[in-house]
Amino acid sequence: KEVVYDFNVTWVTANPDGLAERKIVGINGQWPLPVIEVDKGDRLIVNMYNGLGDKSTSIHFHGMFQNGTNDMDGASMVTQCPIPPGSSFTYNFTVNQHGTYWYHCHTEYCYPDGYRQALIIHDNTSYFADQYEEELAVTLSDWYHDMMEDIKPKFMTVYNPSGAEPIPNALLFNDTQDLSLNVKPNTTYLLRLVNIGAFVAQYFYIEDHTFTIVEIDGVYTEPTEADTLYIAVAQRYSVLLTTKNTTDKNYPIVTVADSTLLDTIPSDLRLNYTNWLQYDASAAHPQANITVEASTDLIPYDDSTLVPYDHMPLLENPALSIQLDVVMDNLDNGHGYAFLNNISYTTPKVPTLYTVLSAGDQATDPTVYGEFTHPMILGHNDVVEIILNNNDSGSHPFHLHGHNFQVLTRYPSYGADFFELADGDPVPYDPSNHSTFPAYPARRDVLVLPPEGYFVIRFVADNPGVWIFHCHIDWHLAQGLGMVFIEAPTQLQQRMTLPSDHLAACAAGGVQSEGN
Ligand code: C2O
Repeated sequence: KEVVYDFNVTWVTANPDGLAERKIVGINGQWPLPVIEVDKGDRLIVNMYNGLGDKSTSIHFHGMFQNGTNDMDGASMVTQCPIPPGSSFTYNFTVNQHGTYWYHCHTEYCYPDGYRQALIIHDNTSYFADQYEEELAVTLSDWYHDMMEDIKPKFMTVYNPSGAEPIPNALLFNDTQDLSLNVKPNTTYLLRLVNIGAFVAQYFYIEDHTFTIVEIDGVYTEPTEADTLYIAVAQRYSVLLTTKNTTDKNYPIVTVADSTLLDTIPSDLRLNYTNWLQYDASAAHPQANITVEASTDLIPYDDSTLVPYDHMPLLENPALSIQLDVVMDNLDNGHGYAFLNNISYTTPKVPTLYTVLSAGDQATDPTVYGEFTHPMILGHNDVVEIILNNNDSGSHPFHLHGHNFQVLTRYPSYGADFFELADGDPVPYDPSNHSTFPAYPARRDVLVLPPEGYFVIRFVADNPGVWIFHCHIDWHLAQGLGMVFIEAPTQLQQRMTLPSDHLAACAAGGVQSEGN
C-alpha cells in the first residue's frame, strides 16, 4: 500500500525540558514530530514543504537502503541540493526492510534544532511477532537550549581551537522528561529504542528488569538476554520486555549520558535521568532510592557479539580493503577539523550523485569528484572491507548510508575498559593478530569506534549509488569526519535518470553544505 505524509516544515516553539522555551523545527505546526509508521513492502511518500523561511533543508531516512532510489537518500550535496525556503520536494520510495529506523534533516547544523523522529517499519512476519502483545517506541536524545544558528558561529572558529563539541543542556526521553510508560503486569512488550540525539550516547537500563535483544539497526538478532545497553546517536535496539507479576511498585528507567564524550562537565548538567515503568499509577515513584552508577562503571551488552537471526555468513576475501585513520586536529587557521587519512570532508559545489550521472565514462575516475569529498570508487558486487583506526581519544559512531555492514572485530570490546583506554597510545589494527572472524558477524548501520582503538567491517557493493560514510556526531560531520563511496557508477548511470525538479533545487540556490 501507499503511505503518504504531508510535511509542512516551519519554526514552532517548544520547551521539552521545562527549562528553556526556544524555536524548534516543527511539522504541520507540531513538535514532537510525527513518528513515521509503515509496513514492510509499503511505498512511502513524504511531500515536504520548506516553510522555515531562513534555512534550506532535507530529509534522510536513516537506515533505508534506497536501492534504485539513491536520489531519495536526502543527504545534502551528496544526493541532492538542500531544499530552499519556499520550495517543496517529494521523497518517494519502496520500503523493503523491517525494524526500527528514524528520519532527520541531513543539511549542515540542522537536526539538533529538533528535526528528527522515529521511523518504524512494522513486520508481522518477524520471528518474534507472536511473542509480544504491544509495542512501545522510545526516543533518547540530547538537547540544546541554543539554536544551531547561535552555536555554529562559536564552534568552528579560532575561539574553539580544540574543536570541543558544544555541551548539551539536557537529555530527553520521547522528547520530554519524567515520563511514565504505563504497563500491565505479566505482559511482554516490544520496546523500540532509538537515539535521535546529535552527540551524546546514552546507557539504558530498567531497575530490576532484564530484557531480550531481538533487533539492532533493522537487523533481527538471535534473542539475547541483556540488562544494560549503550545506545550511541543514530543506533536502534528492539528488546522484548516481560513485566513482573506484581503491580505494587514502579521501576525507574534510567538513562545515563556517556560522560567520557564531554570535554567539560558543567556543574549544572544532569548526567542521568529517571523515567518510569509504571505498573500502578497510584503507587509511588521511589525517586529518592535510586543510586545511579557513573557511566564509566556501567557495562553494556557488546553489540559486536550479537548474531543475526538470518545467519548471513562472514563475507570472505574482500576485493578492496580500505584503511582509514581518524585524526582530530586543527589547521593553521586555528579551527578544529576532523580527518580520515588527512582529508577533511568538504562538500562539493554539485551533489556527487549528479556528477556521477553527468560524467559519462569519467564517472569511474575519482578525480572528477574533487579530492576534498574523499571519493572512493567501489566495483559492482565487490566485497569491501573498511579498517578504521582511531587516533583520537574520543569514540565515534560511524554510519554508512545505503547498507548495513558486518562487524568482524573491534578493539577494545565493550567492557570495563572500553572507554578507559584513552591514554594517548592508539592501538591500530594488525591483521596478523586476527586469523579468524565470527562465522555469522553482527550487522548494523552505526557502529561505535572506540577511543584509540579500531574496528573492521565488511559489506557487498550491491547497491549502485553515492553513499556517505561518516561519524554521526553532528559536530564531527561538520568538522569533516566523512567520505563518499561512489558505488558501481556505471550501473548507477544505467539505472537512474534524475527528475528535472531535483536539479531545480540547486538552481534555486539550495546549496547550503554538509561538512566544512
Ligand atoms: Cu543518520 Cu548521514 O545519517
